[in-house]
Parts: sequence; C-alpha cells; structure tokens
Amino acid sequence: MQIRELGESGLKVSAIGLGCMGMSEFYGRADEAAGIHTIRRAIDHGMTLIDTAPSFGAPPYGESANERLVGRALRGRRDSVVVATKCGFVRSGNDRVVDNSPGYIRRSVDESLRRLETDHIDLYYLHRRNPDVPLEEVIGTMKSLVQAGKVRYLGLSEVNVETLRQAHGIHPITALQSEYSLLSRHLEDEILPAAQELGVSVVAYAPVGRGLLTGEVTTLDGLEPNDLRRLQPRFQNGNLGRNLALVERVRTVAEEVGCTTAQLALAWLLAKDDGIVPIPSTTRLRHIEENAAAVDIVLSSRQVKELDEAIRPDEVIGDRNTAASLALMEL
Ligand SMILES: NC(=O)c1ccc[n+]([C@@H]2O[C@H](COP(=O)([O-])OP(=O)(O)OC[C@H]3O[C@@H](n4cnc5c(N)ncnc54)[C@H](OP(=O)(O)O)[C@@H]3O)[C@@H](O)[C@H]2O)c1
Repeated sequence: MQIRELGESGLKVSAIGLGCMGMSEFYGRADEAAGIHTIRRAIDHGMTLIDTAPSFGAPPYGESANERLVGRALRGRRDSVVVATKCGFVRSGNDRVVDNSPGYIRRSVDESLRRLETDHIDLYYLHRRNPDVPLEEVIGTMKSLVQAGKVRYLGLSEVNVETLRQAHGIHPITALQSEYSLLSRHLEDEILPAAQELGVSVVAYAPVGRGLLTGEVTTLDGLEPNDLRRLQPRFQNGNLGRNLALVERVRTVAEEVGCTTAQLALAWLLAKDDGIVPIPSTTRLRHIEENAAAVDIVLSSRQVKELDEAIRPDEVIGDRNTAASLALMEL
C-alpha cells in the first residue's frame, strides 16, 4: 500500500482508505460481524484511513451503529490506523438536522470517543455546515477539541470554497471530504485548485459512484428494499442505463490497462493529484483486495486525459444525490 500525507499536517494515511458507512446501513442488509471482519482484512491490506460518522447507522439500524462497529473492529489495532469521524449532522428518525452549535459539538465528540473506544480521534470533520452558526464559533470549538487532545486534525465536508478558505484561516484544515469521482466532477473548477493552494487534501467519497462505476449494478431489481440507490437520481429507471453506457467508455481504458472499472476509477483519482485520497466503501473481502490493488495502477497522462474526457459532467444523467440531501450541502 502506498502512503499519502493529508494536507501539510504530517498525518500519513494509506493512499486508498476505507469508508465504513455501508457496513451499517444504506446498501441493504447490514451484518456487523462481517463488517468487523472486513475492516480487519482491510487493515491487513494496508488500508489505514478508516472513515465513519455518528450518522452512519441510525435507528432502526442502531444508534450510531457504524462508530460502534468501527470501535469493536479496532480493538487491539487502534494504533495502526487513522480514525476519521464527524460531527454536525444529526439523524433522528426520518429527520436530519445540521447542528453546528458549540454545545452539540462538545457533546458529540465525547459520544464518538466512547463509541469508538478510543481517547482521541485522528481526523475530525464538520459533516455539514449550518450557516446560522458563525464559522469562527464552529471552528473555534473544534480547535478547542484539538487543544484538549480529543482530536488531532480538523476537516470539513461538502462545503464551498469560501467556507474552506475562511475555516483554514481560523485553524489549519487538513482534509476536505466531498464527493468526487469520474461521474461527479463539481470540485474541479474551484475546490481542487483552492485545496491545492491551501495545502488541504481532498478525501474523495463515493469514489466508485456508489457502485455505478463498477458496472455491476445494472438494475434496481436486485437491490434490497432499503438500499439508498433506489432513491438516487442516477440509478432511476431510464437514467441508469444511460449512465452505464458512459461507464462502458471507461471499460475500454480498463481493458487496455488490464484492470476493473472500479480500480480504474480509483487510479484516476490517485493520478489527478497527490493530495487526493479515495475512500471506497465495501462489504466484500474480494472488493477490499481489488480496491487496495488499485494503488499499483500507473496511468499515463494520455490515459488520464482520455478518462477526463470519457465522461463529460453534462452527459451524466441525474443529480449526484437526492434534492433533500443536496439541500444540506454547500456545493
Ligand atoms: N462526507 C460525507 O458526507 C459522506 C457521504 C457519503 C459517504 N461518505 C463516506 O464515503 C465512503 C464511500 O462512499 P459510498 O459508500 O457512498 O460510495 P462508493 O464507495 O462509491 O460505493 C460503495 C458501493 O460500491 C460497491 N463497491 C465498492 N468497491 C467495489 C468494487 N471493487 N467492485 C464492485 N463494487 C464495489 C460497494 O458494494 P460491495 O459492498 O458489494 O462491495 C457499495 O455498494 C462511505 O463509506 C463513507 O465513509 C461520506
């Protein structure tokens, strides 16, 4: 596994991390024992950036089930990984609230520490931004957690370039976690250049497009009733087939390189910039191996350009998330 430094912090992580979200919710049935086994196998494959959040795995899937699962998986292995979790996005039943208040943040970190069975969080992100709370107060509160030794580094998620710059001026921001993939390119115009300039890493979530870029999800019929992709615009009938036709263009390059389209999607992100770290989520051991092996794929600049052009943003059918979810993001 190759190693990348997040921002200019000195925090070293595997070039491909592990998103744990799908082990507790969102992609159908969750199996905690299998999730724990998958996390441990990922660590054996050198994946050291372990990503979770209090909002992954809410009732009826358990109260912050994903952080608890990560805590159990890391028993005896805590020191060999970088644990990233978040605050600011609260789920209660079907309601979702963006709470950036200092009191909530201080409570949330202590709850995360308890669930994660650790005395510090390596990377602590603001999951969503609520503009009603002044950014100085929000980042100031998070900075106090660094000073208290509860948190080592700070990150943001799904914020715009103004928030990124302003927050970085208050306390160094180590990483911005936002959706970025061959299918979701909205970071490229403003955010990526600003992140490069500021020395902020981009942790790319949904790097394989929630499975769309793997070419393996060809119909909604096989998905479980609670799979979030049943609601995702790009997976809707009529859209899915047209988006899969775009993925076929990626397959042409994958065949030339000798890898899967999922691996190529990850290798493309790694080739775009040294400051990018994708965090694919998987529940399958063979996908852990496949994703980890993507670090060894070296793409020529011609192949990167070919992939840049294989899927033009305006050709992708459907928004990258539901309207309700997008309304909570700044981008
Ligand atoms: N900051 C935020 O707001 C935010 C939002 C969403 C997610 N995230 C983080 O980002 C992580 C990843 O995002 P995501 O789960 O939304 O999307 P993703 O990683 O693009 O897609 C996950 C899906 O792709 C499949 N998959 C992964 N590798 C595969 C492979 N090699 N071949 C075939 N299928 C593969 C998985 O199925 P299998 O289980 O079958 O492999 C799963 O259904 C999450 O776990 C979470 O930690 C953050």
